[in-house]
Amino acid sequence: MSAQTEQRRVTANDIRARKGGDPIVSLTSYHAHTARIIDPLVDFILVGDSLGMVMHGHETTLPVTLDMMILQGRAVMRGASRALVVVDLPFGSYEASPVEAFHSAARIMKETGCGAVKLEGGRRMAETIRFLSERGIPVMGHIGLTPQSVNTIGGFRVQGRSGEAAAAILEDAAAVAESGAFAMVVEAVVEPLGREITGKVAIPTIGIGASAGCDGQILVLEDMLGLSPFVPKFVKRYGSLATVIESSVKAYADEVRARTFPAPENTYKPKA
Ligand code: KIV
Repeated sequence: MSAQTEQRRVTANDIRARKGGDPIVSLTSYHAHTARIIDPLVDFILVGDSLGMVMHGHETTLPVTLDMMILQGRAVMRGASRALVVVDLPFGSYEASPVEAFHSAARIMKETGCGAVKLEGGRRMAETIRFLSERGIPVMGHIGLTPQSVNTIGGFRVQGRSGEAAAAILEDAAAVAESGAFAMVVEAVVEPLGREITGKVAIPTIGIGASAGCDGQILVLEDMLGLSPFVPKFVKRYGSLATVIESSVKAYADEVRARTFPAPENTYKPKA
C-alpha cells in the first residue's frame, strides 16, 4: 500500500461550513495551466462565463454557450486537483425552468467532473436552486450585479444605491440562502449592503466589488494580473502581465530580426 495519502478535494459542503470562519479565497480560471498554478492557493476556482469577455473578446457574457463552459471546465479540472471547481451556467441554459436548469447542470457535472455550478438571480431563481440542490447538484447563487441581465439592468453598474434597491437585494440574498444554495457571489453592491447581507444570511457570501466584510472574495484572474484591457474600479492589480508579455515579445522579435535567435547553444547538433 502506498504511504502517500491523496489530498481530498474541497467540497461545496466544506465551503458552506466556512460561514463566519476563515475568509474564503477564490479566483476564476479557464485553463488547465492557470488552474494548476492557483490550485494550492485558493479554496475554490470558478470557471466563470466571464470567459466570453476575457478569452473571446465579447462585450458581454451573453454569447457564451454550454459547450464553451464544458470545454473550459474540463480543462480546469485537468489542472486543479485540490480546490473545489465551480462552473457557471451560461445565459439561456437554465432560466426557462428548473427542469431545463437540471439538464444543463447535469451535463456540466457529468462532462467536466466539477463539484458545483453557479447561476445568476435571486428570488426569481429560488425554485430552481431548490430543484437542483434536492437532486444532487450543489448550487452557488449570484446576486447584486448579475452580468447576464446587463440588457435589462442598463449596464454594468453598482447595485443597491437606493433604499428600495438595497431592500430588493436583501430579499434576493435571503431567497438564495433559504433555497439551499451552499454559498452566493455578491457582485458590485454598495459597501454597507455587502456587509449587511453577510450578517443576515446563513451561507457564505463571496464578494466581488462588494465589501471586505464578506465571508470570502473572488476576482477574475486576468483582471488582477493586469491582463484584461478594462477592469472595474475595485480591482487591485497584483501584477502587470500585459507589460511582461509586451516586453518579452519585443525582445524575441528583436532577436529574430537580428538573426540571434535561436542562440547557438540552443540549436540541435548532428550526431558526431
Ligand atoms: O463569470 C465570472 O467570472 C463571475 C465572477 C465575476 C464572479 O461570475
